[in-house]
Amino acid sequence: MIYPSGMATQVIAVANQKGGVGKTTTSINLAACLANQGQRVLLLDLDPQANATSGVGVEKREGGSAYPVLVGDALLTDQIVRTQFPNLSVIPSEVDLCGAEIDLPRMDDHLHRLQGALDSVKMANVYDVILIDCPPSLGSLTLNAFAAADSILVPLQCEYYALEGISMVTRLIKQMHDTGDNPGLHILGIVMTMYDGRTRLSQQVLEEVREHFSELIFDTTIPRATRLAEAPSHGLPALHYDPDGLGTAAYDVLAVEVMQRLKDAEAPPANVVEAATLQNPEPLQNQA
Ligand SMILES: Nc1ncnc2c1ncn2[C@@H]1O[C@H](COP(=O)(O)OP(=O)(O)O)[C@@H](O)[C@H]1O
Ligand SMILES: [Mg+2]
Repeated sequence: MIYPSGMATQVIAVANQKGGVGKTTTSINLAACLANQGQRVLLLDLDPQANATSGVGVEKREGGSAYPVLVGDALLTDQIVRTQFPNLSVIPSEVDLCGAEIDLPRMDDHLHRLQGALDSVKMANVYDVILIDCPPSLGSLTLNAFAAADSILVPLQCEYYALEGISMVTRLIKQMHDTGDNPGLHILGIVMTMYDGRTRLSQQVLEEVREHFSELIFDTTIPRATRLAEAPSHGLPALHYDPDGLGTAAYDVLAVEVMQRLKDAEAPPANVVEAATLQNPEPLQNQA
């Protein structure tokens, strides 16, 4: 399905302070599926581990990350690399980005360095969606992503304590509102990842999360699928590594849902507003 552009560039941060919940897998595959559906996509790899970069088949290059942009030594547009896939470009990551956590807090207006850099790209309207793969920490990089984003997409792993991953996200969103750093920030949606329908645990977690977040959760649930885990080592999004796979199909439907929500958000429905004021939920307890 191709949506006519006409919508302003949307910046979506993929965030959850827990590691290993599917942020990078979601960033890569959502980016690839959106691009395949005709959206012009920029994937911004903001995690020094650079897994999203290698996952779309792009080599890490010294000086080739967002770091020099954040510290004012380069233009964001000069860091953009085209991937081999139509409509999909990337701002790679590399180890330099670690330095940002130390250098940024000492700089003027350090929360808004990324926002400032993205503004010119947004104004040029050459991308429909900019997806930011956040690191699993709440340092300056993540804060910059929260300050720059229009909305947050939260992957939650179907595991014990899944809800812990979202408590810090909701707290940070509230902080962005309270300080005025990003008053419009909201959760675009929650995507449940690594769902295994054969286990009671996955079903229980899904039910619990639904109780707390109801329609914020995307209808699409990402299954646990070996091919999704294998694809990055081939430098390919699942769409190109395993086109007929269940994981690929799930991310393809997620991409359609994301576009629908972005369009709906232009006239925000009640749940988008509510999302911004969500209370921190209790973490799921272990159940024997
Ligand atoms: N749906 C899935 N099915 C199987 N493995 C997955 C799935 N999603 C992620 N993984 C694997 O789980 C690990 C953590 O995922 P990743 O996307 O890197 O998480 P994060 O970016 O949140 O740290 C990786 O090894 C990844 O390949
Ligand atoms: Mg990651």
